[in-house]
Amino acid sequence: MKLFLDSGDIDEIKKAYGLGVIDGVTSNPKLIAANWNGKNADFLEALDKLGRKDPVIVTLSSHERDAMIREARELSARHPNVVIKLFMTEQDLSVIGELKGRGIPCHVSLVYSVNQAFLAAKAGASIISPFLGRADDFGDDGVRLLTETIDMIRGYGFDTEVMAASIRHPYHARQAIRCGAPIITLPFAVLEKMYRHPATEEGVQGFLDAAGMKT
Ligand code: G3P
Repeated sequence: MKLFLDSGDIDEIKKAYGLGVIDGVTSNPKLIAANWNGKNADFLEALDKLGRKDPVIVTLSSHERDAMIREARELSARHPNVVIKLFMTEQDLSVIGELKGRGIPCHVSLVYSVNQAFLAAKAGASIISPFLGRADDFGDDGVRLLTETIDMIRGYGFDTEVMAASIRHPYHARQAIRCGAPIITLPFAVLEKMYRHPATEEGVQGFLDAAGMKT
């Protein structure tokens, strides 16, 4: 099982790595725009400086086929740990096989149905992401989508990992863990809420006070 941090903020990423629970980082155009003025290269350079070799999922700056392939090749030549984030569109589907043939792994995001997940896996995606929170936003059942996707991938024996994404709160995280999601990506705010518990904090304080210890 792998846990990824969904973030473009290098301080958050450092903190999460410091906890020893993170296996990689995911980003999206919104996060790169907010933290790096849209410049993927700067984000990747900052991550390189951390000296870790974990996978980093990044989006492309173009949605035109040839430019997508060119940029994916450049990024993966410079950063061997890069996984290219694609979206669940006709255009993106058609790019997966080409990149896979060149040894470049792809992650397909914005997946809202088992049919979409099936096609992305069939096209050769290394990772696919059902979007739990956004599926819920449409009145669908994000957790059910996740479970059915995992069952489909396992049933067919696809060489594709399912990454639960659009995790909005600790209950989503709990449900994804209970589904046995092979990968979960979540924002730092959710990660923090997962390890904090008022009863733990109260208990720690009580023991420390009793023993006269300071933190
Ligand atoms: O991992 C996908 C994530 O970045 C989208 O989350 O909360 O905008 O649906 P959200």
